[in-house]
Amino acid sequence: MARIISPSLLSADFARLGEQIHLVEEAGAERLHLDVMDGRFVPNITFGPLIVEAIRRLSNCRLDTHLMIEEPHRFLKQFVEAGADTVIVHAEASTDLHRDLATIRELGASPGVAINPDTDFDTLQPYLGELDYLLIMSVFPGFGGQSLIESTLENMRQAAAARKDHGYQVAVDGGINTQTVEQVFATGIDIAVVGSALFKAPDIPQRFRDLQG
Ligand code: DX5
Ligand code: ZN
Repeated sequence: MARIISPSLLSADFARLGEQIHLVEEAGAERLHLDVMDGRFVPNITFGPLIVEAIRRLSNCRLDTHLMIEEPHRFLKQFVEAGADTVIVHAEASTDLHRDLATIRELGASPGVAINPDTDFDTLQPYLGELDYLLIMSVFPGFGGQSLIESTLENMRQAAAARKDHGYQVAVDGGINTQTVEQVFATGIDIAVVGSALFKAPDIPQRFRDLQG
């Protein structure tokens, strides 16, 4: 089965966003990863629904929208209306995870949850039946270009092993490059999110194919 690479636009050139999206689409990308940061949950700010809506008009890929924002329930509707297909909230930032996952589904999108490197996979047990997408962070979120934290391989293995009883896909985000991609997929996960190792490559489509293996 082909491995799924999900390009993270955080490291793309936003002055040439349309071109960069077309490059990864032509190489075979079927989903894009959009990093929304609020300067509170993480020490960085990126973009909100306005830019998601613009990206929606540039691409037919699935848009996996990774909300690194406090109290994400305030903005779920806006991101779905902007065109997000998957809305991913952080377990550490949600004030009521059951409610937020149900809201995303009622709005017509796929519910996802992300966990930081220092959150145990087991804390998600009560929610596993409600998820379509489980995002294991392999770096502390906030910035592209960090190194994968080895201890997060355990969360990857557990999330992949528990998947057989549920319907979710497991994605991993942070520090994935041509050196680390093999060990990440070896844990049994489905989707590798790749930012800097893809968009900083001299030949982006070739790097996409190299990562796909
Ligand atoms: C990190 C973001 C990631 C980021 C990954 O806070 O959630 O999606 O783009 O970037 P790389 O692949 O450069 O580690
Ligand atoms: Zn992300």
